[in-house]
Amino acid sequence: KAHQQDTRLLAGKKVLISAGPTREKVDPVRFFSNRSTGKMGYKLAEAAYELGADVTLVSGPVHIHLESGVGSIKLVHVTTAEDMYQAMMDNFAKQDIVIKAAAVADYRPKVTYDEKMKKQDGNLHIELERTKDILKALGEIKTNQYLVGFAAETQKLQEYGQDKLRRKNLDAIVLNNVSQQGAGFGSDTNIVTYLNKNLEEYKIPKASKKEVAIQILQYILRDMKDEKA
Ligand code: CTP
Ligand code: CA
Repeated sequence: KAHQQDTRLLAGKKVLISAGPTREKVDPVRFFSNRSTGKMGYKLAEAAYELGADVTLVSGPVHIHLESGVGSIKLVHVTTAEDMYQAMMDNFAKQDIVIKAAAVADYRPKVTYDEKMKKQDGNLHIELERTKDILKALGEIKTNQYLVGFAAETQKLQEYGQDKLRRKNLDAIVLNNVSQQGAGFGSDTNIVTYLNKNLEEYKIPKASKKEVAIQILQYILRDMKDEKA
């Protein structure tokens, strides 16, 4: 059947996804990180693969695995925000769709120690410096890539989400209320709103992260087709 045309929705498309948290080193035994488990990003990668895409997944440190049978997803493991920046930059140019589901640390320790820090009397102050905003950097260099971000919020979802969409020059953003029951970090389900740059909003009601992933990809494809038409 090799000669038959692949009619799956994402056949012939290259998709780059980032998932999971980043870890920012303090010393050899300590780091700063966040509650991201990587599930949403991994489900997006699996869904894109099943829809026929050529998928690259850039993953921070997570405790989950890709489903079996998705062996040809290209998996790139990273640890820090800086590593993730490099991996996304290295893979960006040839992509059709880029989705940043990762929870990138906004700050990292300004100084890191090669030896384990010893405790001392009194308080410890660790100065943090900003990491690079990877998504914003991609938004600045994008050509034809359809660029999608996530917004993790606990309040003012629409307002903060729209602001990120504009500020980072995105084509769409997935609004994720991480304090809601059945949504956000660690949950097997999610409840999100897909918002595109024309400020058209589509609510995706509570469903498994895999089903949410499929719907997000369908909205992206619809927008891409509309743009071409
Ligand atoms: N993001 C990124 N690089 C960073 C921080 C965030 O690429 N250094 C991306 C995330 O992967 C996500 C989007 O930006 O797709 C929004 O992340 P979020 O943490 O919700 O927003 P921030 O812009 O970091 O703003 P804040 O944390 O203050 O809400
Ligand atoms: Ca952030």
